[in-house]
Amino acid sequence: MMHLAFLILIVLTDVASSQKVCSYQDVLDYLNLTTDNSVFKLTRPVLDYTHPTIVQLDIILYAILAVIEKTQTFIPFVWATLIWNNERISWDPAHFCGITHITIPREILWKPDLFIYEMIQTDDSPQNAYIYVSYDGIITSEEDLKIVSTCKMDVHKFPFDTQKCNITIGSAIHCVNEMRLLPFSNSSRATQFSREVMKTQGEWEFLQLSISKVNFTIENRQWENLIYTFTMKRRPLLHVINFLLPILFFLTLDLASFFIADHRGEKLGFKVTVLLAISVLLLILNDILPSMSNKTPLIATYCIVIFALMLLSLLETILVTYLIEKDSQVKLKVKDKKKKVKRDNSDADLRRQRQTCCSCICKVSSEEKQHELLPAVEEVNNSVHTGESHVLLLILEELKELKKALNLHLCGSGEGGKYVQWAARINRVFFIFYVVTVSLFLTLIYTEWNT
Ligand SMILES: *[C@@H]1O[C@H](CO)[C@@H](O)[C@H](O)[C@H]1NC(C)=O
Ligand SMILES: *[C@@H]1O[C@H](CO)[C@@H](O)[C@H](O)[C@H]1NC(C)=O
Repeated sequence: MMHLAFLILIVLTDVASSQKVCSYQDVLDYLNLTTDNSVFKLTRPVLDYTHPTIVQLDIILYAILAVIEKTQTFIPFVWATLIWNNERISWDPAHFCGITHITIPREILWKPDLFIYEMIQTDDSPQNAYIYVSYDGIITSEEDLKIVSTCKMDVHKFPFDTQKCNITIGSAIHCVNEMRLLPFSNSSRATQFSREVMKTQGEWEFLQLSISKVNFTIENRQWENLIYTFTMKRRPLLHVINFLLPILFFLTLDLASFFIADHRGEKLGFKVTVLLAISVLLLILNDILPSMSNKTPLIATYCIVIFALMLLSLLETILVTYLIEKDSQVKLKVKDKKKKVKRDNSDADLRRQRQTCCSCICKVSSEEKQHELLPAVEEVNNSVHTGESHVLLLILEELKELKKALNLHLCGSGEGGKYVQWAARINRVFFIFYVVTVSLFLTLIYTEWNT
């Protein structure tokens, strides 16, 4: 009986010990980790000051929020994981019911003072409040970062460009023998992870995330930095539809306008309208591209050359219109002169007529030398008496003038004067020049964009 009671007691105590209850607070109490214990906060957590703190960093691109060419700003949203060692922290999980990890507020412990060189605006997104502490002193901190950074962009090939933006991360004050910085994963793993988690499907297609290490030296002190390079390619469709194609359409319209007749000034109005439409499109370009760039963007060349060609064609149209105007002016002058001569003649005739009625008719007809009309004049001369002949003669004059004017008009729209011929020749030569230049230029700029 005694023996049995002893056995039961042993079993009971065993159960009690195996059902020992542990809390995270026990671990904290063991470590003396409290909010007002400054031992964990004040200094770099090493027991021997010559030990460097090794910080491992992992960055994964989660989204490309914006790439602004005008201000040369790149805004990615990244997940950053920081892992470092705290030599002051360690416990045996076996003493704490197998607790291997605890989470504590991030303010309690020392943290690596990493900063991003390109960052131009502090991140105001809410921070993760806790960090993860492992029994062997490994601390893990996870952060979501919206990085507003500067990035030197090359817009030479806009909108068919690929941009590379760097995020350089390093310690603000700890140099290389105090803090080492290592990438947690290599380039290909980071790229693959980023591709998997990327959520945005915007203008930019993420291509690659590559990691490189670089030492930065000032006054014999070295800092270790990690450079994350984000490579992304622009999806050009929107800009092609919005910009390149409309300009090309306007160019085609301008080419087509060579088939509009020159005479009535409609062509001039049409060309001016097309030119104005292009200048509106140029305003859009002004919004997108940075004002300063070491190499002229191809799209600017594209616009300026097409604009210049259209301007040239407008000037050519003005010249041709001027020549045609001039031709008709010359004709009008000739016509006026002839009219004047004729009027003078007829005035003189009238004066003479008062003196000698009969001879005047013959005189007028001989002066005019209008052979086709001679028979009619003779007929009039023969058959009509002096009183009526004067009126008939005037009617005849008018008819002759009308016939001449009609001839002149027909000449104007037909074979034309020498200025009109010049205009036609200029038109033809310029059209060939225009087509050749446009096709040459377009192939040139296409190859330039493609390479
Ligand atoms: C915690 O502090 C107590 C005294 O306040 C000390 O006895 C104990 O050794 C400390 N524990 C550790 C792990 O430093
Ligand atoms: C930077 O310096 C550390 C320590 O001197 C060295 O181990 C490391 O190889 C250097 N890194 C580069 C990229 O030079």
